[in-house]
Amino acid sequence: MKSLTIRRPDDWHLHLRDGEMLQGVVGHSARDFGRAIIMPNLVPPVVSVKDAVSYRERIMAALPKDANFNPLMTLYLTENTNPADVAAGHASGDITAVKLYPAGATTNSQSGVSNIEKVYPVLEKMAQIGLPLCVHGEVTDSQIDIFDREAVFIDTVLEPLRKRIPELRIVMEHVTTQQGVDYVRSNEMGLGATITTHHLIINRNAILAGGIRPHYYCLPVAKREGHRLALRQAATSGDPRFFLGTDSAPHVDPLKETACGCAGIFTAINTMSLLAHVFEEEDALDKLEAFASLNGPAFYGLEPNDEKISLTMQDKPVNYPEKIETGAGPVTVFDPMFDVYWAVG
Ligand code: DOR
Ligand code: ZN
Repeated sequence: MKSLTIRRPDDWHLHLRDGEMLQGVVGHSARDFGRAIIMPNLVPPVVSVKDAVSYRERIMAALPKDANFNPLMTLYLTENTNPADVAAGHASGDITAVKLYPAGATTNSQSGVSNIEKVYPVLEKMAQIGLPLCVHGEVTDSQIDIFDREAVFIDTVLEPLRKRIPELRIVMEHVTTQQGVDYVRSNEMGLGATITTHHLIINRNAILAGGIRPHYYCLPVAKREGHRLALRQAATSGDPRFFLGTDSAPHVDPLKETACGCAGIFTAINTMSLLAHVFEEEDALDKLEAFASLNGPAFYGLEPNDEKISLTMQDKPVNYPEKIETGAGPVTVFDPMFDVYWAVG
């Protein structure tokens, strides 16, 4: 029987939502992951340290009794974010990062940043105190093709930002392109990237070929096959600049299966099985621990988790539910379109 034991992984990009949805999904992340960077795009967003502290309390209250899960909180950067509040949240340990959403880029990003110049004082303060910035790296200009928005963001926003504040530690969240991978590799210091489970598995055909499939729609949208292969190469390379951020983003089915469906794919429940499958396909099972459990904490200046988890290859496919029921409604689980035999535990 094939099995693999690794340090308990962390999820460096996770949407848990609030209320009934939070209650319904948080246990699935807590089962496999020790920590997660919690995205702040609630309605209204988590903009102050006070908001982050009270959101963290709601997450802790929603956890199953026996859970051992540490939510690492982020602030949603707006043009009104106060540098002193950010610095105080960092000093108290209440926040681990700040998230930049270009206004209008994705779900609940309307309060995000329209003019990056306006947030330079906050970013300069963050660079000074060593607080990382998590970036949704897509331009929002409707003139730019949606498949090019990440690449254009790198050239027109990220590179100028890096030049202006080179000391700022940046995570390019959910990179989806060869250009994203190349850009991270071309920077020596202070730039990392998360990669999602689903972008290692699907390309844009999954969304559009043979019928429109809303459960494969997320942002940044999956790209051509060559980009998927570049992401696989980066994730399985062991390069410490790349680490797991699932971007597990639950929406209830009625909000996905509609004329204008929400972006987001729910992978919290089956990510570790799927990653073992992918890393085995790439003949890189020995690099899974780096990607899922070591590189992320190293980037954030934290220790890896002490506990271990085991992944075991079974004779029969592991059965994940097609959907989970939450108090907010049903949420479809990411279907990789192949059987997986790696089980956690
Ligand atoms: O697919 C996505 N869903 N991408 C994002 O950037 C946001 C997320 C969400 O909150 O649903
Ligand atoms: Zn996200």
